Formats: sequence, C-alpha cells, structure tokens
Amino acid sequence: MYATNLFRRLGGVMAFGLGATLTISAIGCGGATTPPVGASPAAGISPQKFSDAVHAVMMADRTVYAKQVVTRLKKQGAPVKPSEYWQDEDHTIPLPAQMFRMGAELVNDNPEAGFSYALKSQWPLNPQNQAEGTEIEGLKFITENPTENFYKEEEIGGSKFFTAIYADKAVAAACWECHNEHANKRADYPVFKEGDVMGGVVVRIPLD
Ligand code: HEC
Repeated sequence: MYATNLFRRLGGVMAFGLGATLTISAIGCGGATTPPVGASPAAGISPQKFSDAVHAVMMADRTVYAKQVVTRLKKQGAPVKPSEYWQDEDHTIPLPAQMFRMGAELVNDNPEAGFSYALKSQWPLNPQNQAEGTEIEGLKFITENPTENFYKEEEIGGSKFFTAIYADKAVAAACWECHNEHANKRADYPVFKEGDVMGGVVVRIPLD
C-alpha cells in the first residue's frame, strides 16, 4: 500500500541520483554507454535503511528541541518553562516526549506518510505509550543487547509489517529524576539510572 509506493518513489529518486553521478563521471572519462549497475528503479531502499534514516531524523529533532529550546530557556531563566500540563498552564511549552508523541500522531494520521512510529515502554507514564506483543519482545532484546537495534517482520490483522525498535536511553539526569519520581508511575516501575533503556522508538512499515 502506501509504503510500497513510497519505496518506489524513493527507489526511483535514489536510482536517478546514482545514475546521474555515474553518467557524469562516464562522460568525464570518454563516454561509456552501458547503463550503470544498480541504476534501475527497482534498486530502491530497504525497509531497514528507511527506518534507520527516519529514526535518525526523529532523534535529531528531539535532541535539538531538548537542547536548543528547553535547556536554553532554562539557562536564560526565561518566564516560559516546559510542563507536562502545558495545555492547562500559562507560559509553558510541551515536554520533549510530548512533542515526539504529537509528531508521531500527525504522521500516523497521514495516509501519505507510508509508515508509523511511536515512543513505547513496558512501564509508560502515559498509558498511550504502552508497548505490546512484538514491541515488548524488541524492548527486551535492546535491553539485553544495548548496542543493537531490533528488526522483525510481523503480521498484524492479516497484513505484513516491517518493525524496527531503537533503544531510548537515560542519557541525562533529568530523564531518570523526572520518571522515577513521577506520579503516574505504576507499582512495578523500575528505578531508572544512567544508561538504562527507558523505552524504545518503534517504527512500523506496511509491506503489503
Ligand atoms: C520533566 C519530566 C520528564 C523528563 C525530564 C523526561 N521525561 Fe520521558 N516522559 C515524561 C512524560 C510525562 C511522558 C509521557 C509523555 C506522553 O504524554 O506521551 C514521558 C514519556 C517517555 C517515554 C515513553 C514511555 C512513557 O513513559 O510514557 C520514554 C521512553 C521516555 N519518556 C524517556 C525519557 C528519556 C530517555 C528522557 C531523557 C532524555 C526523558 N524521558 C525525560 C516525562 C519526562
């Protein structure tokens, strides 16, 4: 469905880019006429490469928001601060995790996007972020193998998906301080410390 079209489009673009580069260099060295290998539109991009790429963009945006907006306002003693309750409180902006979820919701509602994503956990502060099924399997895998990502093809409701899960780690004291003390934490909530996998970004691409 959407993903297939998206991959075709991306495949076309990538193949064109490669073909153009090779053609230019071929002209430079006297003009070969055979089309370069890998320049066919079928060459495309693998679901894994696509998920790795969109995940890199998501993380970059979240880091920039946390560092250049949230931390910057704090350093300046600005009269605006991040708050979970930003919708009800004046002079507040959303938390990075809320920004992330709102972005994910827009992409999930956009039929042109061709994929969906979410930040999930086995112990979510927001029940909307509850990991289930393959997601729990993936979160356990990335917790036991902290330098790896988790990739799997799965079937949901009769449709095939490529699912990728990337660790979201406790990289700053603010992460575990806020989470470990949060009023929403359940009885089985772990005590997070530096470097722990607190959850994971789930990217899901339909393959049918
Ligand atoms: C000021 C408090 C606060 C800070 C700091 C914070 N979080 Fe969160 N985090 C939240 C809240 C609240 C949610 C639920 C957001 C939502 O509505 O989706 C959340 C959501 C999450 C989730 C999704 C699962 C869940 O608990 O709902 C993960 C994973 C996560 N945060 C990891 C982190 C990491 C890693 C950091 C540090 C880089 C961090 N958080 C910093 C409050 C915080």
